[in-house]
Amino acid sequence: MDFPVLKKTPLYEIFSDVGKRIYQPNGIFYWANRAKKECEFNATIGSAFGSETDILPEGRKSKIVYYLPGLKKYINLEPEKMAAYAPVPGVPTFRDVWTKWILKKGKNAKNMPSPPRKIDHLISKPVICNGITNAIFITNRLFLNPGESIVCPNKRWGNYNSVLKLQNEETILPFQFFKEGSFNLAGMLDAMEKSLQTQDKIVLILNFPNNPTGYCPSTKEAGEIVDSLIEFCKTHQKPVIVLCDDAYEGFVYNSEVVSHSLFYELIDRHSLLIPIKMDGTSKEMLMYGGRIAAITLGLSSQWVSDEDIPILKAEWDNKIQGMVRSTISNSNHLAQEILVEYLNDDFTTLLNDQKIVQEILQKRYDETIGAFHKYPHPLITMDPASGGFFVFLNIEGISATKFADHLVTKYRVGTFPSENEEENINGIRFAFCSVPAKDIDECFKRIQQAMNDFPV
Ligand SMILES: Cc1ncc(COP(=O)(O)O)c(C=O)c1O
Repeated sequence: MDFPVLKKTPLYEIFSDVGKRIYQPNGIFYWANRAKKECEFNATIGSAFGSETDILPEGRKSKIVYYLPGLKKYINLEPEKMAAYAPVPGVPTFRDVWTKWILKKGKNAKNMPSPPRKIDHLISKPVICNGITNAIFITNRLFLNPGESIVCPNKRWGNYNSVLKLQNEETILPFQFFKEGSFNLAGMLDAMEKSLQTQDKIVLILNFPNNPTGYCPSTKEAGEIVDSLIEFCKTHQKPVIVLCDDAYEGFVYNSEVVSHSLFYELIDRHSLLIPIKMDGTSKEMLMYGGRIAAITLGLSSQWVSDEDIPILKAEWDNKIQGMVRSTISNSNHLAQEILVEYLNDDFTTLLNDQKIVQEILQKRYDETIGAFHKYPHPLITMDPASGGFFVFLNIEGISATKFADHLVTKYRVGTFPSENEEENINGIRFAFCSVPAKDIDECFKRIQQAMNDFPV
């Protein structure tokens, strides 16, 4: 398989060995589709087909994918929507809905450094995969060989270490997330420079609202991040891939910070600045078990002519499909079909439903910030937090793990400790998302008491 248009863009050169090799052949799905359209008999795919009446006397006569009849009572969609494989890149109607959702989120974006721009033709069709975890794995594998490095804040979701280091054998080049209470732009740029000493491309992963800190950039900080990434590309003339982990997109509780993904701001700002959006339903739609996420590329208008853009999108799609097919094969079908139904009123129900949960979380967030200030301790500081599900409390003078253990055993408050001396981390993550607002004050009172148990 050749990728003539992809080869005209900076993407092809910076693919990893796997990224260069991988493609989605015209395999079983091609022949199965042809058989469906062109044949009298279809003996292609390895799924059992027949009339529903064969398995259920009162069933339909039409030919469907067989399913086990006892399952029918648990779902109120046609059972074949659960039983049949989803297409490798996702159910087409779901991909269309997700495209609209991405564009809607971009248009709704408030507090962006620049007004939202029309980017409709400069985003690839989202490819559906098994959660953002899987999206992180796929995108990293596509661009980085074992031993190559990814730039990442020191405060990051713990599973990055497993996916990037243990699984993909990458090196994480961390930077201190904050300097004097603000995003440490200089630290990020230093880590990027360091990465260029050993490779000709930068892969940077950013996650706002952040896990574990809840940090979201202010309008000013977001503008500075974008401007400095553009400047970096101009100065170094090396591609910079920005993986936007948008797991908590939309969960923002402070009107002074950017409420939506940086992805929108990064599209078509420099031909070497390549944003990739990874968003999904785990948090946005509270469907953690649905295992649905999307990988979407932001294109540069400089790469190829307008008429080549659809071909470029198709070639990119093929590469991502190759990654999906060779790892998870395809994603949860039922979850996609449910979401197609749920989202088909131009997102009205979703937005109303989200508002209910967001208001609950807003209260918990407000309570958390209030309680933190009400029960201060000189050895506990909170990282800047404006969104997401967590706050992070930095602890001095005692091991965070020891402290979390003490908090559990003596005070019955469960938190998640994080310790990494090399990366200057020692603290606990407090998941306000899972504590009722009325209990948060008590938790922080106990955190203060627990700390008082240790002599300064
Ligand atoms: C920052 C971040 N990214 C990604 C994920 C994983 O999301 P998913 O459930 O879609 O795999 C999480 C889940 O906790 C997360 O906190």
